[in-house]
Amino acid sequence: MAAEPPRSATDGRVPVKIREVIGDERLSTSFPLQSYAFGPSPTPTTEEQLRAALPYHEGNCTMIVEDDGLVAAAASAIPMWQNVRGQVLDMAGVAWVATHPLARRRGHSRDLLHHLLGEMRRRGHTATALYPFRSSFYARFGYVNLPKPRTVTFRPEDCAPLLKADLPGEVTWQPYAEGFDDYRGFLRRLLHRRHGFALPPEQQSAAARDAGTRWLVTARRDGDVVGMVTYRIDGQGGQLRADDLLATDAFGRALLLRFFAHHIDQVSEVVLTVPADELPELWLDDLTARVETVLSFPSAPPPMARVLSVEGLRGLEVGAGRIGIEVVDDPFLVGRYHLEAVDGRLVVETDPGQMSAVLTAAGFSGLVYGVLDPVDVLARGLGTLSDDAVTQLRALFPRAVPCVFPPR
Ligand SMILES: CC(C)(COP(=O)(O)OP(=O)(O)OC[C@H]1O[C@@H](n2cnc3c(N)ncnc32)[C@H](O)[C@@H]1OP(=O)(O)O)[C@@H](O)C(=O)NCCC(=O)NCCS
Repeated sequence: MAAEPPRSATDGRVPVKIREVIGDERLSTSFPLQSYAFGPSPTPTTEEQLRAALPYHEGNCTMIVEDDGLVAAAASAIPMWQNVRGQVLDMAGVAWVATHPLARRRGHSRDLLHHLLGEMRRRGHTATALYPFRSSFYARFGYVNLPKPRTVTFRPEDCAPLLKADLPGEVTWQPYAEGFDDYRGFLRRLLHRRHGFALPPEQQSAAARDAGTRWLVTARRDGDVVGMVTYRIDGQGGQLRADDLLATDAFGRALLLRFFAHHIDQVSEVVLTVPADELPELWLDDLTARVETVLSFPSAPPPMARVLSVEGLRGLEVGAGRIGIEVVDDPFLVGRYHLEAVDGRLVVETDPGQMSAVLTAAGFSGLVYGVLDPVDVLARGLGTLSDDAVTQLRALFPRAVPCVFPPR
């Protein structure tokens, strides 16, 4: 009996291949892996339901690993924007990294991530961020932890003093879908104002809009939007669960809190999210609240981010410093650079001159994002720095708390 022809001229196996999938192809490749990895399963799903999700993935870069005819792994990058030290960068939000249960621990995700990040860098993305299932996994890829937004829980009664406060401005209330464009416009304004703030593409936010499960409150002063928050109520006597409390100033925030005070006797608690450096104890007197962040993997991780191109950081708002650095052990950043502040903006030269710091990608990214002091870099084993390098890097990249949005 004739043997079946080998599927590869070399070893009888089809060689492992990494490629991008677009459109309908996601239905039979990335979607099944991702729903197994992230949803309850098995769940009967019709093709129609899967198809309905396709538009929300439009524009994402989805890549798969094919190994001997099996879709062994999949991962996506969502093209976003992120403010890093005053400069809006193209940022790749990595999501839905999943390997087939029978193909795990063979290096598929590692190879796939390298490919995906390389491709996003090629397309002009200077940074990347994600929510890790475990941060040590992504630390190997040069990512560093960022601060996690805090959750604030309080009774609407505690905001009652605001009911009588004389606040300039007014509040409007509508289904999220109706105010979607205004909300996106407000997010775009915040993107240009806040370090760390990230804006997903419209089709990504559209999933929440189309779900029809959110209200939107808008605070305006002299016609300008000064605050917005989306929320849902889980039932009478239950919780009003808000998303991010977004306000440009204390008036915007107070107008939104006063709106929540109008839910006294309707809900028992208001729960909302604020950036890590927000201090609810300063909002108003007698506010009894729980301000918390839970760190756990995989369900409640802090975000992570990394730089994908040192040259792409030109123009960042930095402090007065100058230094020659070498970035090592990284396929995207490896090299020697001279970094200097000129008129408060970062200038990057690839001709390094004298060097006084050797950094890993995570160490360098931690400094750029403002989450690591040079001494943290040393203590975490993310670089080797001379005393002068500590001084220069601290001056160039002062600590700053990134206000990460969108939260998970
Ligand atoms: C997490 C997951 C994607 C890893 O995929 P994988 O193809 O098995 O990973 P790889 O074989 O490429 O592993 C790469 C490295 O990470 C390590 N690693 C793999 N799984 C790990 C885990 N759960 N915890 C810590 N390290 C892990 C591997 O040992 C390997 O280390 P090495 O580079 O020193 O050899 C896969 O287990 C999975 O699909 N899990 C469920 C979904 C999920 O959690 N996805 C991540 C979302 S952020």
